Amino acid sequence: MQIHSTIAGLRAALADARLKAARIAFAPTMGNLHDGHIALMRQARKHADVVVASIFVNRLQFGPREDFDKYPRTFENDCARLAEAGVDHLFAPDEQEMYPTPQRYQVDPDPAHTDILDGASRPGHFRGVATVVLKLFNIVQPQVALFGKKDYQQVMVLRNMTRELALPIEIIAGETTRADDGLALSSRNGYLSAAERAEAPRLHRQLVWIRERIAAGERNFLLLETEAVAELAAHGWQPDYLTIRRRSNLQPPAGDEPLVVLGAAKLGNTRLIDNLEIE
Ligand code: PAJ
Repeated sequence: MQIHSTIAGLRAALADARLKAARIAFAPTMGNLHDGHIALMRQARKHADVVVASIFVNRLQFGPREDFDKYPRTFENDCARLAEAGVDHLFAPDEQEMYPTPQRYQVDPDPAHTDILDGASRPGHFRGVATVVLKLFNIVQPQVALFGKKDYQQVMVLRNMTRELALPIEIIAGETTRADDGLALSSRNGYLSAAERAEAPRLHRQLVWIRERIAAGERNFLLLETEAVAELAAHGWQPDYLTIRRRSNLQPPAGDEPLVVLGAAKLGNTRLIDNLEIE
C-alpha cells in the first residue's frame, strides 16, 4: 500500500491507473479503523481495480463543543489494517494540505435533509461532511465511492449532493457491521466505560423491537417510538430521537415508501447512533 500525504503525490500515483482506464473505488474515513471500515474496503475491492482509502479528521464537521481534539488517532495501526484489507493507496493529508487557507467555498446541503435528526443537534455538521467529501472526490476522482449505512443521514446527503452536482460517481452504501451483541461498531464506542459498553446494545435492541412490531402489523408508529424512548430513558440514556422515516429522504412516512428506523441517544457523555431498515 502506498501512503500519500499530499494531493500532488496521490494524483501522480493515480495518473497511471487512469491512463489504463482502471476503475477507482474510494472509501473516506477519519481513522481509528474498526471492522466496519475494513468491511467497506473489502467491498470496494469488489467494485474496482484500484482501491483508495483516506484518513482525515475533518475539523469542519465538528461543532465547537464536539470531540475534534480527543478524536482517537491511531495511524500506525490503521495503516496495517488497510494494507491487510488490500487497499492500494492511502491518502492521509494533514490539515495544512487539505485546508491551506480557510475553506470559504462550502457545500450547503438541502436544509430539509440537514435540519433534521443528527443535523438538528449538530448544526453545520453535514455542511462540513459534504464539503470535505466533495473536495476528496475532486482529489481522488473515483468512479465508485463507499459509505456505511451506519451513518444513514450522511449517505442520504452525499447521494443527493452527488446527484444534484452531477458528479460521475456511483455511491454504494455498505451494511452496518456490529459486535456480537448487536452494538454498531463505532470509533466513539471506545469512549464507553465497561458498564456503559454492557448497556450500549440496548439501542440496537430497541430498533429491532420496533422492526418486529411493525412486521407483526403495528401501525401506530408514534406509540412505538414513544415506548422505545421511554425504555432507553428508564435505563439511564438521554434519548435524542428514535423515529421511523422514509429511507429516501428521511422525512416522515408517506404512502408505502420503504422505511428505516433511526435512533440517537447519549449514554453518559457518549452519543451513539444506529438505524435499521424496516422490511
Ligand atoms: P468515519 O466515522 O471514520 O466513517 C468512515 C466510513 O465508515 C463512513 O462511511 C461510515 O458510515 C462507515 N462506518 C462507520 N462505522 C461503520 C459500521 N459499524 N459499519 C459499516 N460502516 C461503518 O463518516 C465519516 O468518517 C466522515 O464523516 C467522512 C465521510 C470520512 C467525512 O469526513
